[in-house]
Amino acid sequence: MERTRWYKDAVFYQIWPRSFCDGNGDGIGDLWGVLGKLDYIASLGVTGIWFSPLYPSPQADFGYDIADYYDINPEYGTLDVFRQVLEGAHERGLRVIMDLVVNHTSDECAWFVQSRSSRDNRYADWYVWRDGRTPGAPEAGGTPPNNWDSLFEGDAWEYEPARDQWYLHIFAKKQPDLNMDNPEVRAEVERIMRFWLEMGVDGFREDVITYISKDPALPDDNPLKPAARGMRFYDHGPRVHEYLRQFRHNVLDAYDCMTVGEAPMISAQKALEYCAEGPEQELDMMFTFEHMGADCVVTDWIPRPFDLRAYKRALGRWQTGLAQDAWNSLYLENHDHPRIISRYGSERYRVESGKSLACSYLFLRGTPFVYQGQEIGMTNTYLTRVEDSADVSTFNQVARLRKMGVPEAACLRLANRATRDHARTPMQWSAEPGAGFVGGDGTAQPWFPINTNYRQINVAAAEEDPDSLLAFYREAIALRRRLPVVREGSYRELKQASAQLYAHVREGVGQKLLVVCSFTGRTAYFSAPGDLPLAEAELCLCGYEDAPTEGNAFFLRPYECRVYLWQEV
Ligand code: NOJ
Repeated sequence: MERTRWYKDAVFYQIWPRSFCDGNGDGIGDLWGVLGKLDYIASLGVTGIWFSPLYPSPQADFGYDIADYYDINPEYGTLDVFRQVLEGAHERGLRVIMDLVVNHTSDECAWFVQSRSSRDNRYADWYVWRDGRTPGAPEAGGTPPNNWDSLFEGDAWEYEPARDQWYLHIFAKKQPDLNMDNPEVRAEVERIMRFWLEMGVDGFREDVITYISKDPALPDDNPLKPAARGMRFYDHGPRVHEYLRQFRHNVLDAYDCMTVGEAPMISAQKALEYCAEGPEQELDMMFTFEHMGADCVVTDWIPRPFDLRAYKRALGRWQTGLAQDAWNSLYLENHDHPRIISRYGSERYRVESGKSLACSYLFLRGTPFVYQGQEIGMTNTYLTRVEDSADVSTFNQVARLRKMGVPEAACLRLANRATRDHARTPMQWSAEPGAGFVGGDGTAQPWFPINTNYRQINVAAAEEDPDSLLAFYREAIALRRRLPVVREGSYRELKQASAQLYAHVREGVGQKLLVVCSFTGRTAYFSAPGDLPLAEAELCLCGYEDAPTEGNAFFLRPYECRVYLWQEV
């Protein structure tokens, strides 16, 4: 099948289903809710939807622990409703990609239930089982096969008495790792991919895909490493490229689909091994974490304070590092990170900084993803007790801190900085009770508390306001889609050393685009170089109502952003 690479013109909207929209009135987001919002999604100008996992799951990690890869979580709907969503999306020109979580399953997946029951059954070798280093149950002095840490929950190993063996879980205990070295497991992954592609989905976001191949010796790691011990033996493991090529050749090549791999610790240079275009290309693009300051899912749970220069350097490394050889993904928010205005912008200048942040990534080379609520400037929530969190990683990271003797007040403070709950509060649709999120008669308790600011920050209010962040996202996305230079142009940064401004130029196909974003609540000054005469440019976008200039320069108000275009250059 010829690959049209349609994803290069796409803009995606990410739905984390539990918190998007509740259609049936039980306080949990679902596909009936999504059906009612397809027009809204299309109105943003996006061209695709990425669904975080919709499959049946005990929800230990909100769907990233899949119990059945061939069905829909009954809380969210049925396969029939999903087909309606898919059809409705396609009718509106929206592609749909699914989350593919195959590094691990749920411990409630039928394969694992069988696998753990004995050493001798059809699924016995589907997971990573090993004898203990010292035999026997832990209570009897048995010790795990090696010294690896999990990313979510203590040791990476859990003892199973029925087999007198241990299983590997890089994430939580309820997320046992699949044994991808087993050809039957790889055949099953292919079957899953085909199942959804045949139904009509347009591709996959592949969860922690760089972890799927483990060094079979499972060696001990440096005992002094505080966390993520073992990672170097499974990240970019020995056979990962072989497996991904197999998936591409056996399945993906038969469809004009796209894949984006999540890769927690990847550099641009390493990404080329997976994404460089050519006959051996494995994935279409990667989700990097480099511009996110820290990786709150993996090694460094606490996000570092915002550093504009580090942000610019990271974006620049990927823009120039992949150059014309591979394609980027672009994002600021997803279900794993705190809200971007609270982290990188300013809650005081919520709308202005939201606009500047939008501008800072929407005109880069790559496929942008917008996370639900980002387009209306939703902000972080506040946990008054760690126990109010719904996030397995928050519980476990705090347990680790407590063990180290960190005082309770500090644990709470750190939890509030890092927790994934921030991104997972229900979507704020209106100022009505239940924020318009709760369906039916609107009386059900939402599954997680709605952010108390919903009366001010919600879709309905933003729709009424021509200067809202929502209106700006619509404008920016439309602009991006009509300018070929955004897809084709080169990338050059200006004022690299500035700790206040991010300015970059995209140039090619007869167009030049200048994007200037302020990241300060103070006034900042920008003077354009001589080859960018502002008087000859069209001002395409500005975060404020007017855009005065002084000669070939201008002052930026708090968090102001501007986009200028030169044609026929
Ligand atoms: C990355 C996902 O985005 C995150 O939500 C999940 O907890 C881990 N992978 C484990 O699946």
